[in-house]
Amino acid sequence: MINLSQDSYFTGIAEKITSSGRYPSLKQWTQHAHVSTYSHSVWVAMLAYKMAKKLHLKADYPSLIRGSLLHDYYLYDWHDKNKGFRGHGFKHPAISLQRASEDYSLNDIERDMIKKHMFPLTPFPPRYTESVCLCLCDKVVSVLEILRLLKE
Ligand SMILES: [Fe+2]
Ligand SMILES: [Fe+2]
Repeated sequence: MINLSQDSYFTGIAEKITSSGRYPSLKQWTQHAHVSTYSHSVWVAMLAYKMAKKLHLKADYPSLIRGSLLHDYYLYDWHDKNKGFRGHGFKHPAISLQRASEDYSLNDIERDMIKKHMFPLTPFPPRYTESVCLCLCDKVVSVLEILRLLKE
């Protein structure tokens, strides 16, 4: 079990995203095991932020937090195969980018983060430090969720 404490810098940026757009709707969909897409996205953003800080990475921290929060903003139940969401792993980065762009003003770093977070499953390698952080932390958090080592 890992414990990520609250951080006022993180929450100050994160709350502007999580309280706007269609973000609250992420609570209704399951990401992995018992964890909602909302909680998954917050976990990933917190871990990416904490890791970058710990490693003293030169990064655009607001973009790192925002892009991480929005990386799975695809807004559907990916488990429902009857609704035509086959190939979710390959398609959802582009769908998330499209839907996040409808609700938020994104910069180049945030767009790259969302579009490339499934690398190497999708063939486009991350371009920025922030995108690499997200790519790694998304996979770590996903494994922890599947092993039920993270609480909702
Ligand atoms: Fe994803
Ligand atoms: Fe994810």
